[in-house]
Amino acid sequence: MTSSPGDKGGPPSKVGAGRFSLQQRLGAGIFAEVYRGVDHSTGEAVAIKLEDQRDGDLQLDFEAVILADLADPERRHGFAQCFYSGEEGMYNCLVMDLLGMSLEDHLTNCGGTFNATTSILIAEQGIHRLRYLHSKGYIHRDVKPENFVMGLGAKAHHLYLIDFGLSKRYFKDRHIPLKYNVGMVGTPRYASLNALRGTEQSRRDDLESVGYLIIRFCVGTVPWSGLGGTTQDEKYRKILNKKEACPLGDLCKGLPSAFPKYVRKTRSLGFEETPDYDFLLDMFADARSRHGPEQDHEFQWLVGVKLGQLDPMELPEDLEQPDEAAAVESSVSNPFFALAAWFTNSCSSTANRSTSEIAFAPSHRSSDTVHCGHAASDASQSDVDDAEPDERMHRPHLMQCN
Ligand SMILES: Nc1ncnc2c1ncn2[C@@H]1O[C@H](COP(=O)(O)OP(=O)(O)OP(=O)(O)O)[C@@H](O)[C@H]1O
Ligand SMILES: [Mg+2]
Repeated sequence: MTSSPGDKGGPPSKVGAGRFSLQQRLGAGIFAEVYRGVDHSTGEAVAIKLEDQRDGDLQLDFEAVILADLADPERRHGFAQCFYSGEEGMYNCLVMDLLGMSLEDHLTNCGGTFNATTSILIAEQGIHRLRYLHSKGYIHRDVKPENFVMGLGAKAHHLYLIDFGLSKRYFKDRHIPLKYNVGMVGTPRYASLNALRGTEQSRRDDLESVGYLIIRFCVGTVPWSGLGGTTQDEKYRKILNKKEACPLGDLCKGLPSAFPKYVRKTRSLGFEETPDYDFLLDMFADARSRHGPEQDHEFQWLVGVKLGQLDPMELPEDLEQPDEAAAVESSVSNPFFALAAWFTNSCSSTANRSTSEIAFAPSHRSSDTVHCGHAASDASQSDVDDAEPDERMHRPHLMQCN
């Protein structure tokens, strides 16, 4: 998309039967563009994400479905509200809350690194966001600095998780099965070891990525940055080899001990294992008690800024993961099934331990871009092929999200 809103063949200047107007462009990913806009029915500023239907690899519908699921029965902190989803000319559109700058943009403004305290706050909120997403049966599969943005005004200290274009439903009645050679989905720099090996992703992979994110934030880089290759597979293999070979002690030299502990812990999770989110959060709570910050809004870029009344952070602890809810249900109806579920879960954790011996999974992708999710459709295609019938839903025409 290179043309301006309203240009012939370009993005529309208005969407939602004239309710929303597009203003300036805020950002662009590999397959979509995001504009600042206005909702004429309220006068409020909004963000409008557009996807060109001619590009083929369409994901915005699915994103709208996920946002609607996440808001049911009530929207939680750290997720945008979707106001409208539909079509306008050749474009799919999703209108949502206008949010602030991404962590990648903040990183650039801060000179390429964040201090440990800012990174600890990011880790804490990042885990909370993933815990909620996982509780709804989805995994994100593209945890990276561009997909975390800060809120605005009274929510300036809220970290939002955005961009569900590569997300996948991992639990519907039961956990998806462990598979190998599925092709890498996500961004190699932050991808888990198992994702780079081509293993089907689950909750553990999202969490492992948060570890690489905060290490890069504190250090400014990671040793596998900029590794090239003559093919995409070769490049991924080099990144995987480097990530595997890099001692966590060296990688996290000078950083709070919670950082290597967190990566070690998330790497050791089983494919179907329910992560102990509280345990992971406690690591950073402990780091916070040693290194600070005391306040949950002490992000580097907010220090010294005159902040008005802030919305206190909601950090729900009552979240049940879908497998926990299913286990309770089945044990109530039949204790034998509960025992069987426990046994299956134990076996899958054991099976996981041998994944490092699995041969590297060649990707079917032809694109050589670092971000492999949107550029080539096969990553999503393999998901579509594997999807449960209702996993990828058809376009909900003119869906009202609120
Ligand atoms: N609600 C929003 N408010 C403000 N800015 C936003 C919003 N949503 C997205 N952005 C900005 O636009 C950028 C691209 O958005 P998004 O990640 O949703 O697009 P994408 O094409 O799916 O990206 P990717 O290539 O990472 O998959 C974000 O990194 C962010 O800077
Ligand atoms: Mg993105």
